[in-house]
Amino acid sequence: LRYSRTAIALHWLMAVMILASLSLGLYMVDLSISPQKLKYYSWHKWAGVTIFVLAAVRLLWRLTHRAPTMPAMPRWQALAAHTTHFLLYVAFFAAPLTGWLFSSAKGFQTVYFGVIPLPDLIDKNDALAEIFKQSHVAITYALGALVALHIAAALKHQFINKDGLLLRIMPGRKSPKTLT
Ligand code: HEM
Repeated sequence: LRYSRTAIALHWLMAVMILASLSLGLYMVDLSISPQKLKYYSWHKWAGVTIFVLAAVRLLWRLTHRAPTMPAMPRWQALAAHTTHFLLYVAFFAAPLTGWLFSSAKGFQTVYFGVIPLPDLIDKNDALAEIFKQSHVAITYALGALVALHIAAALKHQFINKDGLLLRIMPGRKSPKTLT
């Protein structure tokens, strides 16, 4: 069995958005202050808020649909996979939320795509801003590490185990039946 088209679309959309937010975040922080830098901060915040929305849709989807059963594997690997997937879901929410909290505490409101003003989650507070900034960095780095582990495991299945696991999340109609 493979994942449904909705699950596949959400998976790859989020993969692209997360890699883009990680790269842009790492790049923008080291720029010296300029209109360009502020523009990148806005883009980064919009991408992050989009990830938050996609994560909510994806979690709802996941809670109401079954994932295809995993192929046979040693128990520690199944446990590692479940733990990584669970922590990825946690990070999908924690990464954008700490960014949003940081921006709020700094007193910089997020205006989604420059059109929709989002509520500040907390009042301006420099001490809290520092804490949320550090949490944002720690959590997004952890998210990066989880993504790397997730990709390494996918590649191991593809090229070492050769069990076709990757096909289940690939767009296209090639492999077995689709879950609804
Ligand atoms: C999954 C979503 C997100 C990812 C992966 C992500 C990733 C990152 C990364 C890697 C950095 C650089 C950290 C460093 O090395 O200093 C960063 C910085 C930042 N992020 Fe995010 N971010 C996300 C969502 C958000 C959201 C939703 C907001 C605000 C609404 C936000 C606001 C910021 C700000 C303001 C900074 C700059 C911090 C500073 O000035 O030091 N981020 N982010």
